[in-house]
Amino acid sequence: MILKNDLLLRAARGEKTERTPVWLMRQAGRVLEEYREVRKKANDFKQMVEMPELAAQVTIQPVDILGVDAAIIFSDILVIPEAMGLPYKMVENRGPWFDKVVENEKDIQQLHIAQAEDLQYVMDAIKLTKKELNGRVPLIGFAGAPWTILSYMIEGKGSKTFSKAKKFLYTQPLLAHQLLEKITQSTINYLKGQVAAGADILQLFDSWAGVLSPSQYAEFSLKYISRICDAISEVPVIVFAKGAYFARTEMSKLNCNVIGLDWNMDIAESRKLIGDKKTLQGNMDPCLLYADFATIKNETEKMLRAFGPSHHIANLGHGLYPDIERDKVRCFVDTVKSFRFNV
Ligand code: CP3
Repeated sequence: MILKNDLLLRAARGEKTERTPVWLMRQAGRVLEEYREVRKKANDFKQMVEMPELAAQVTIQPVDILGVDAAIIFSDILVIPEAMGLPYKMVENRGPWFDKVVENEKDIQQLHIAQAEDLQYVMDAIKLTKKELNGRVPLIGFAGAPWTILSYMIEGKGSKTFSKAKKFLYTQPLLAHQLLEKITQSTINYLKGQVAAGADILQLFDSWAGVLSPSQYAEFSLKYISRICDAISEVPVIVFAKGAYFARTEMSKLNCNVIGLDWNMDIAESRKLIGDKKTLQGNMDPCLLYADFATIKNETEKMLRAFGPSHHIANLGHGLYPDIERDKVRCFVDTVKSFRFNV
């Protein structure tokens, strides 16, 4: 199917575009009252993720309501640990919870290497979303990066420091590599399945990159991200490693099209470290959207100028917070969409 709006894909490949494309991490969610309405039809978040009709509906909402240039499939990075044998729960107002975690070699041996068919509900949600989007905008597929997935499999819940997961890397490095290997293979199968189902572009989320030291990051994270990038040649790949400012030069060598930046990363410095071949994505502080409209417009235009007229996908530096007003989100999106470079 030919896309009516392929700005995101062209920008990802470094091609010239009429304007900068824009989407937001966590664009589907509690920011939209329409999302909260659909959520009432399921018992909880997890059931919604597993019901393709509901997942497709909330995936498309931000395209209609916010006017973004891409949809991102409504799911969670934690479906991979579950497909490998560690089921998760999403506890209301508290976040993820795993009853069973990885503690030793036997636990790792018992884990299954996930196949795309193990996550059939995601594949079905992608197919249905593609059909209902009817070519309006590209659909982004995604997965967690192996290190971030490992950290949930060891910790069993969110954490401020991820010290249990880091302890595992320092005390059981061989086991950590065995586990990362299994996660990597599962993730490749899963992402290839998403592409076969219709995903036009993929994003890897390394949300907890920032807790590792540069040498640990190279050994336990980048190496596996690199393997995933090498395995995907069908569609463009975006790598977003939150807090990995120290790894930007290394990341420029990844076989991916786009590097996501968080708001702590200076734009000009990032361009210098990463070079001019990659497209950069980001990187507005989500908290800017608590400011007044004039400030949002001003800061957004400043960001657009700093990135320049090509090789940029506008986004936040991390996900939207649920209590941000939708009109402020629209202000960010509309500012990007009406901005033109005088070239
Ligand atoms: O709109 C989108 O971006 C697509 C959907 C999406 C969700 N999770 C839906 C979700 C995506 C891409 C994710 C990825 C994800 N999930 C990440 C990586 C991105 C990041 O934020 O760094 C991580 C770390 C997770 C794990 C996760 N899921 C946590 C820690 C939480 C609880 C915290 C919270 O925000 O509530 C979730 C729940 C979750 N995932 C929600 C949504 C919309 C909120 C659930 C609800 O509606 O109650």
